[in-house]
Amino acid sequence: MNSVSASAGSASARQGDKPMSRYAEFYRRSVDEPEGFWSEQARLIDWKTPPQLILDASRPPFARWFVGGTTNLCHNAVDRHLASRGEQRALIFVSTETGVEKSYSFKELHAEVQRVAASLMELGVGKGDRVLIYMPMIPEAAFAMLACARIGAIHCVVFGGFASGSLASRIEDATPKVIVSADAGSRGNKILAYKPLLDEAIRLSSHKPDAVLLFDRELAPMELSEGRDHLASVLLEKHRDAEVPCTWLDATDISYTIYTSGTTGKPKGVQRDTGGYAVALAASMQHIFDGRAGETYFSTSDIGWVVGHSYIVYGPLIAGMATIMYEGLPTQGIDQQPDGGIWWRLVEKYKVTVMFSAPTAVRVLKKQDPALLKKYDLSSLRALFLAGEPLDEPTGRWISEGLGVPIIDNYWQTESGWPILTVANGVERTPSKFGSPGVPMYGFKVKILHESTGEELAGPDEKGVVVIEGPTPPGFMQTVWRDDERFVNTYWKSVPGKLVYSTFDWGIRDADGYFYILGRTDDVINVAGHRLGTREIEESISGHANVAEVAVVGVADALKGQVALAFVVAKDGAAVADEQAALQLEGEIMKRVSDDLGALARPARVRFVTALPKTRSGKLLRRAIQAVCEQRDPGDLTTIDDPSTLQQIKNLF
Ligand code: PRX
Repeated sequence: MNSVSASAGSASARQGDKPMSRYAEFYRRSVDEPEGFWSEQARLIDWKTPPQLILDASRPPFARWFVGGTTNLCHNAVDRHLASRGEQRALIFVSTETGVEKSYSFKELHAEVQRVAASLMELGVGKGDRVLIYMPMIPEAAFAMLACARIGAIHCVVFGGFASGSLASRIEDATPKVIVSADAGSRGNKILAYKPLLDEAIRLSSHKPDAVLLFDRELAPMELSEGRDHLASVLLEKHRDAEVPCTWLDATDISYTIYTSGTTGKPKGVQRDTGGYAVALAASMQHIFDGRAGETYFSTSDIGWVVGHSYIVYGPLIAGMATIMYEGLPTQGIDQQPDGGIWWRLVEKYKVTVMFSAPTAVRVLKKQDPALLKKYDLSSLRALFLAGEPLDEPTGRWISEGLGVPIIDNYWQTESGWPILTVANGVERTPSKFGSPGVPMYGFKVKILHESTGEELAGPDEKGVVVIEGPTPPGFMQTVWRDDERFVNTYWKSVPGKLVYSTFDWGIRDADGYFYILGRTDDVINVAGHRLGTREIEESISGHANVAEVAVVGVADALKGQVALAFVVAKDGAAVADEQAALQLEGEIMKRVSDDLGALARPARVRFVTALPKTRSGKLLRRAIQAVCEQRDPGDLTTIDDPSTLQQIKNLF
């Protein structure tokens, strides 16, 4: 393996001289004495009532953390900082889409959150009720999340880039009492009206919310549905001086659900607790991100994704840091003119110390003038964390050399809530290796198992499935929302003969214990760092009247990591007989996916074939299709029913 120190590891921390001794002991304790370890970490947050039992693992694979303790996420993120840093910045909002730049102190954030909390209560929301948040990257989205946490309501944030079909299935599953939304989002100066998508989603869903709370940015007109829709401005004004105390929740009470894709078309509601999540985030802010109260944290993600939940909203605020919420492209200026230096301008202006982004975004910046990295004073920055997809070496090197700070790859999932593999520089300075996210984080017993025998592959560089042995640490998903069975069967029973959590990622580990992630074992693809299920895309395409069969695969792409390609068998062959007709059907299919799921899920290309490669028992050979598209060897094809089907696809490339 190519071993280069990407992080500024001191010479004494390098391999050879006692590697990672401090971290090794930290890690050992976390897995050998989890109760002792996590009871210490629990002191990083405020409790109303301290936990009675640190870990209840009596019903594997379910792990219940900090049983008997009561706390509140909003209290830990906001209220507890009021006395020590009430006037300091808590949330900085910058939109290069609308030209707005605004900061809120902890005190102001406290007031804003209480206004939204009181408004939600007026709409009937109480403890345990679901509130679905379908919002662009505006501060009100964070206020709404924190307001839910404050009153014990369960928030369910749906990414604003999703369209009505995706939104409808999430409304159906979450059964929210109230939906919080806005008139529109904006991307690259293009307004995306949310309200019509929301109305359509509610129409499609059999569950109807009691009320919809709407923030009007005056970007797009909104038609209000009498009796159901409420303008936030009216309610917020009414509750201007609201004082809403935090509802103390059991540590094991649900804080939120967030939907993510898997092997089936039906998205899974990843369910998270309250106390375990707060402790996990507080600990990660210290040990992994090394962020300190009073400093500024900048994550370029979106609140619709897990990174947004953990490291735009809750993590930095719990740590007493100011967090930047940025609406816009990485290449757009505040005056809406192109500006590839916008991020660095924000780092300079707000003295950002910790930054979090995704490799895709860096690949976009790589196309800009490298001088932009030198134009700003970036001396406040201590590290850039990248996650969500594999970090390729050229991208890692480019940004590492450009910024001159450690670039820290970190691997995790919506399910885990915080990094599974990385380096914990807050515990001990540890060298990174390009291509590897790092070593298992404290609390995570990460193993590599043989896909079909379930045997542990302990040797270096042996490829297998990356799994986690229970009990899973605090912050990890509790279960699948309303579906314990799906949680156990999907995640914990996929490796024969063992009750272990499967990440559904392939991986290897080198002789130094560093892991390398080699892609998904299931039908999940990763487009520009966004996780999508190919089955969902296939289901959307199948709805087209002229589609008989479809296979969607993720194919390597230099900029986005992967893009979706669709192979379609048309019902009426004549419809794709000539190039013009094929182009038209391709366009219709792409539009269908955009309208249904959102532009992110739209395949990069749709290609027409007369039959799809399948096994004799009729199983689609997606991996073989993917291999052929990437000009790789499709592997063992003894089970293929008709080899000419794969040849047809090969001929297209
Ligand atoms: O395949 C892995 C990839 O993204 C998946 C999780 O995506 P999501 O649930 O959206 O959570 C993202 C949280 C950062 C993983 O199963 N992945 C994530 N981080 C990395 C990665 N692949 C390689 N390297 C990473 N650092």
